[in-house]
Amino acid sequence: MVKVSILGLGVYLPSKRLTNFDLEKMVDTSDEWIRSRTGIVERRVASPHEKTSDLAHKAALQALKNAKISAEKIDLIVVATASPDSSFPSVACKVQKAIGAKKATGFDVSAACAGFLYALTTAKQYIQTGMAHHALVIAAERFTDLIDWTDRDTCVLFGDGAGACVLGKAKSGHITADFLQAFGDQWDLMQVISEGGRSPFHPEKTACAKLPYVRMQGQELFKMAVNSMADAIEKVIKKAKIKKENIDCIVPHQANDRIMSAVAKKLNISKDKIFINIDKYGNMSAASIAVALYEAVESKKIKKGDNVVLVAFGAGLVSAANVVKW
Ligand code: UT7
Repeated sequence: MVKVSILGLGVYLPSKRLTNFDLEKMVDTSDEWIRSRTGIVERRVASPHEKTSDLAHKAALQALKNAKISAEKIDLIVVATASPDSSFPSVACKVQKAIGAKKATGFDVSAACAGFLYALTTAKQYIQTGMAHHALVIAAERFTDLIDWTDRDTCVLFGDGAGACVLGKAKSGHITADFLQAFGDQWDLMQVISEGGRSPFHPEKTACAKLPYVRMQGQELFKMAVNSMADAIEKVIKKAKIKKENIDCIVPHQANDRIMSAVAKKLNISKDKIFINIDKYGNMSAASIAVALYEAVESKKIKKGDNVVLVAFGAGLVSAANVVKW
């Protein structure tokens, strides 16, 4: 079986910072509540001119540069996003044009906060089967577009950003195991709701009352997040044939610092092994793990030879995990 590795990583984070103190002026909340209940201090917000595809493009350019691969060599682009510029064309096709990856094919995947790992695992299969040689995997979100900015339950949690990686045949290290699972019976715990519509065939829905916005049942999601991420870690390390003690670094989806503490406690793993950057960016949905992985490598929290576990949970509900021998 062909071994597939991450050849280079990239990120793009919009420059505008939205602090907890800024949010205090917008809704009935406090810096103290947000910090203590979530660990978030600030998050980034894309400028009005920066679409999701622009964030994806910039992260992709850095990943290509770090992988030392030209765009012409990319034959697959997979973009994970819950906040595409529009329902079509795909963000992947827009990125293809922007970077000039003329021979590539591309598509978007929808797996919310677990999207980066779904995209990574999908692209890995393309390379293993010989369908592609070099793939660009991007996670990009302009999630602030999906927020009801009068709802304090959700508006304090999310931010915008993008991360990307280039995959190819292993040079050193490789993705050793994958785990994906869906819990569709609980889809209603987190969803994007649209009120109104324009179809003349459903007249009661024709008044376009409100743009799409996120609604979630926080406490239920919290429990599911802890249980499903702990379970995904146990299953993926079993597949990778490594023990908990051999994990060097866990890069989890960044939804809540308390979720990460609870996962560490449940698995009896030191929290020091978990990479956390939620304080700086909040929850960037699919982009969270991609950005955290980049920062963990840059800050030398991940070193050559390490056993790295990526683990995610998101709307769907879905969970995912990968083991990467770095
Ligand atoms: O990304 C993947 C999916 N998402 C998740 O996994 C999110 C998982 N859930 C969570 O992280 C947490 O449940 C939240 C951060 C969303 C909420 O934290 P919580 O500790 O579960 O709070 P809660 O919903 O139980 O609310 C506690 C109190 C309530 O007030 P009362 O009823 O006790 O008077 C809320 O109204 O906190 C109140 N509250 C707030 N207060 C100040 C809720 N949001 C805020 C806020 N500022 N922003």
